[in-house]
This record gives sequence, structure tokens and C-alpha cells, in this order.
Amino acid sequence: MVKVRCKLVSWDEVVEWCRQLSLKIKESGWSPDTIVAIARGGYVPARLLCDFLDIHELLSVQVLHWGKAAEITAKAHVKYPLKVNLSGKKVLLVDDIADTGDSIIVAKEHLESECKPSEIKVATMQWISPVCKIKPDYYVDEVKEWIWYQYPWTRLEDTTQFITKMLDEEGKKKKEWTLEEIVEKFKEWYGIDVGKSYYELALEILVGEGKLKKRTRDREVVYEL
Ligand code: ADE
Repeated sequence: MVKVRCKLVSWDEVVEWCRQLSLKIKESGWSPDTIVAIARGGYVPARLLCDFLDIHELLSVQVLHWGKAAEITAKAHVKYPLKVNLSGKKVLLVDDIADTGDSIIVAKEHLESECKPSEIKVATMQWISPVCKIKPDYYVDEVKEWIWYQYPWTRLEDTTQFITKMLDEEGKKKKEWTLEEIVEKFKEWYGIDVGKSYYELALEILVGEGKLKKRTRDREVVYEL
């Protein structure tokens, strides 16, 4: 029944995972001077780790996976180089999840060549071990079966993309949808419920982009493909 396995992640879970991550780092006896967040997914975990580990230096590097016109480029890449001297510094590189590992590999190579820190260690909340090309030095959960972690900072973006994908498929059979029907089908496809305001915001985006038309049928609002 579920087409994409998802886990709906709460803010409280994120805080708890980052607290656990900070304990693992402390227990290892290694202590970083600087945290580098991989944008955009690593921002919130990196900031929480700064708090739990009392680290005041926080930088970031963005790794992109998309080329022009949403074409997947062969390689993940850093668009804006980070031109800072980190010689003599121990760096903790942070992302939310290590999935393929490509972002982490690219960010790490970039830091090594551009910033020359004395050491880099990697921390993520989740590590998808069967598909990941690297193993983070610190992680909270080893995920043995691939699943989409629906983190709170991508809730609207994910909901919009998920609805698009679902209606692309389901729209072959049915052209008009009420909000309630979309929510029910979403729960069926993804096995999670992101809450009414996210469905509404996502639908407004899709209407604004011209991907759906909003109209009234028998005094009821319907979305038309
Ligand atoms: N980003 C890359 N892989 C992901 C996954 N499995 N869940 C959530 N965000 C991701």
C-alpha cells in the first residue's frame, strides 16, 4: 500500500538525536574546534551540536546535486567555494543524514583542499549503511533498509514534491480532487500525515505554479489537474 517508506521526524526527536550525537563525540575523547555544516540539511543538527558541545565556531559549505534546469549532474559539487584558512583546526563536518555519502565526500574533499584543517571527522544523525559510500565517525542510527526521513526543515518542500509525484500517477485515473481526498491518498502513498497546514501550503504552491487549478464544484473546493 505504501509506495515510499517514510519516517515523520519531530523537532523533539532531532534535539534528542543531536544530544545523543554530542554524547558519543564527548565519550570518544575527541573535541572539535570548529563545526562545518553541510547546507542545507546539516544546518539545524550543526547548530544544536554547537550548543551541546559548547562550540562557538560554525561555518557552512553547500553541496548541490542539481545542474541547470533540474538535470542531475554526474557529480555533487560545491557551488560557492569556502575560502577560509582552517590550518591547525579540528573540524566536525555535520549533515542530517548519510545516504549515498556523496555530499559528505565532496564537502570533505573541498575542506581538505581549500581550508587545510588538521583533522576532519564526520557526524550525522542517520547513516543508511547498505547504500552509503562512507561510514560517518559519529552517528545515532544505523538504518539498514532505505527510508525517507521527513525532517521538519523540509516538510513543505517534501510535501509539495510528494503531492506532485502522487498526482502525476493517480491523475491518470482521476482529474478532480478535494483536499480530503488528497490527504487520504497522501497517507496511503507515504504512510505519514504532515498536518493540514502543510497540505494547504503545498497545494497553494502548486496552484501558483499552474500545476493545479483550484475551483468550486457544488459549493466545494476542488483541485483539478
Ligand atoms: N536526503 C538524502 N537522503 C535522504 C533520506 N533518505 N531521507 C531524508 N533526506 C535525505
